[in-house]
Amino acid sequence: MLAIIGGSGLTKLEGLHITHRQVIRTPYGEPSGALTFGELDSHPVVFLARHGYGHTIPPHLVNYRANIWALHAQRVTHVVSVATVGGIHPDLTPGRLAVPDQIIDYTHGREGNFAQFGEGPVTHLDYTWPYCQAMRERCMAALENAGEDYLPGGTYATVQGPRLETKAEIDRLERDGAHMVGMTGMPEAYLAREIGLCYAAIAVCVNWAAGRGDSDAGISAEGIETMLGQVMGRARKVLTHLACMTYGDAIGTTPGGACDI
Ligand code: HPA
Repeated sequence: MLAIIGGSGLTKLEGLHITHRQVIRTPYGEPSGALTFGELDSHPVVFLARHGYGHTIPPHLVNYRANIWALHAQRVTHVVSVATVGGIHPDLTPGRLAVPDQIIDYTHGREGNFAQFGEGPVTHLDYTWPYCQAMRERCMAALENAGEDYLPGGTYATVQGPRLETKAEIDRLERDGAHMVGMTGMPEAYLAREIGLCYAAIAVCVNWAAGRGDSDAGISAEGIETMLGQVMGRARKVLTHLACMTYGDAIGTTPGGACDI
């Protein structure tokens, strides 16, 4: 089953025909909310709002372990995260979407493992390519089917937040090779890998990062809100294509094929 983790601007999924909600208890505490089960254009999906359905949980306090564990416990196999970012690379203009292929983790103090160290041999999981390539390809095909002009790669710098960055911090991230900056990419992506979920992210650029483009004088909260309003409708359309491509459409298109939406 396909799960969608919605970030800022996507606390509910319009067009999702909800069948039921389920509160999941986990060994790691409470997820951000009940899982919402439903159908997107007749295709089954599970939805979870990362910041809670009232958008009350800041990025550094999200219980990433409980969220990922809950999805896994409900037999989810594939996860797409929708995550807002600031654009660092000149090609990642506000309003554009991207499917990152690399991550740099600048966060601290977040619970980032399921493994209980001290209870068995220490293992080191390969993480050279942090996203599931099959899921990235499916996301890119969905973006193409939805007519989006997206960035087919890029390095997502995950910062601690919840504050935005200084210009000097963005300069450093750029020197490090980051193309975009957001607050929720990690440890979510790693936990998905650790538990065996095929996970990729669709990054939604909602502003120029600090000191770039029209953010040279500062980043306006209203500007981000306006951009969120404009772009999330398009993201929903992409997700509908993604669900359709995952399961095949009603007239029998095989999974992976284009869908007539
Ligand atoms: N910085 C960090 N996270 C973000 C930004 C940003 O500029 N925009 C959206 N999420």
